[in-house]
Amino acid sequence: MIRINENYTKLKASYLFADIAKRVNAYVAAHPQLPIIRLGIGDVTEPLPPVCLAALHAATDEMAHRATFKGYGPEQGYAFLREAVAQHDFKAHGAPIEADEIFISDGSKCDVANIQEIFAADTRLAIPDPVYPVYVDTNVMAGRTGANQDGRYAGITYLESTAANGYVPAPPAVSPSNPPAVSPSNPPAVSPSNPPAVAAELIYLCFPNNPTGAVATRAQLAAWVAYAKQHHAVILFDAAYESYIRTPGIPRSIYEIEGARDVAIEFRSYSKLAGFTGLRCAYTVVPKSLKARDADGNEHAIHALWNRRHTTKFNGVSYPVQKAAAAVYTAEGQAQTRALTDFYLGNAKLIREAVQQLGMSCIGGDNAPYIWVNTGRDSWEFFDLLLHKAQVVCTPGAGFGRCGEGHVRISAFNSRENVTTALTRIAAALR
Ligand code: MLT
Repeated sequence: MIRINENYTKLKASYLFADIAKRVNAYVAAHPQLPIIRLGIGDVTEPLPPVCLAALHAATDEMAHRATFKGYGPEQGYAFLREAVAQHDFKAHGAPIEADEIFISDGSKCDVANIQEIFAADTRLAIPDPVYPVYVDTNVMAGRTGANQDGRYAGITYLESTAANGYVPAPPAVSPSNPPAVSPSNPPAVSPSNPPAVAAELIYLCFPNNPTGAVATRAQLAAWVAYAKQHHAVILFDAAYESYIRTPGIPRSIYEIEGARDVAIEFRSYSKLAGFTGLRCAYTVVPKSLKARDADGNEHAIHALWNRRHTTKFNGVSYPVQKAAAAVYTAEGQAQTRALTDFYLGNAKLIREAVQQLGMSCIGGDNAPYIWVNTGRDSWEFFDLLLHKAQVVCTPGAGFGRCGEGHVRISAFNSRENVTTALTRIAAALR
C-alpha cells in the first residue's frame, strides 16, 4: 500500500483556526438562539474600498470584450501592479526594491508556507514563540523537525517573545559548548536557556507581530540583519500588518534597513490593508542580490529559484483582482485604505482600554489590529469562558506556542457595534 508523508503525523490534529471553528460551530449548533461575536481569526468585516471595487468592476467588464479580454497573465503578476508596488511600498520609503523583484500571489499564507521548499531539508530554523502557526507546521510537514515534545518541535530554535523582551526577540546566542545535534531525526529543541551550537539559517520574523501586535524598531531589525549577514542566514519577514503602523520611525519594510536586500525575503498582503481576505492578493519580495549555496559551495540566486517554483506551480492572480490591488496606490486608494485601517485601529483602542479597565495587562492594538491579553489563567479555559459566558470568540494564546499560554489574542476586525457589544458582554462575564 502507498505510504504517507509521516511528517504529517507529527502535527497537532488540526490547524489552530480550524480547531477553534470546530469548537465555535459546536457551540452555535447547541445554542442557536445566542448570537456569537467573532474576534478570533483575523478576518476583515468591512466592504472593499470603493476605488478597489470600481477597478474590479471595470476590469471584469474588460473580460467581456475580445479586444480587452485577458487569458493567462504573467505568473509573477502584471507589470502595472509590480511597478506600483515597487514605487509606493518600497522606493517611496527609501527601500531599494525593483518591480521585477516582486512576485504577485493569491495570499501571504501560501507564500510563507511554500517558501521553505526552496531551502535544504536540513536547514536550521529559528521561529518565534508565540507565532503564526503556518511557519512551524509547514516545516514540520517538510521534515525539518523532530517530534513534538511538550508543545515544541525538536530541531527548532524558538525565539521567545515575552514581556521580558518587550515581545521582540533578539538574535539567539550561539553556544560553542552545546554539541551539535547527532541525529537529524531527533535534534534537541533549543531555547534561550538551551542555546544552539550553530547559528540558525532560516529565520522567521513578523512585524507588526501576529499574534502579539508588537512592532520592531529600526535598531532591533538592524540586529537581525547583522546576524543574518554574519551567519549567511535568510530572514523571512512577514509584513502583512504593515499598514497598521502609526508610530513614526517604525520601519514598514525590512528593506529600510541597510543590507537587508542581501539577507531577507518580505511578504505583504492586501488582506488587512484593503479588505482582500475574500478577494485574495498578496506579494512576496525576493531581491536579486539574495544568495544561498549548494552542497558544493556554489552560490545561487534565490530569486531564480523562487521564479522557477512560482512559474511551475502558480498561474497568476486574476486580472480583475490585480487591477483592484493596483487601485490601492491611487490617491483615493491611499485615503480609503487609510480610513479602513484607522477604523479597525479605532476598534483596537476600545478593546485595549476595556481590557485594561478589567485589570488585565495587554500589548498591541496601537500599530496592529491584534491585542495580546495577559489573562493570568489557562488560555483555552479563558477562550471557553468568553465563548460560553459572553458568546465572544477570541484566540487562545497557547495555540500560537508555549509562550502564548496565559494569553489570548483579541482581533479588532469587526463592526464597531459588534466590538462594543462584545466588550460589554466580556465585562459582564468577568464580573
Ligand atoms: C490570523 O487570524 O492569524 C490570520 O487571519 C490568519 C491569516 O491571515 O491567515
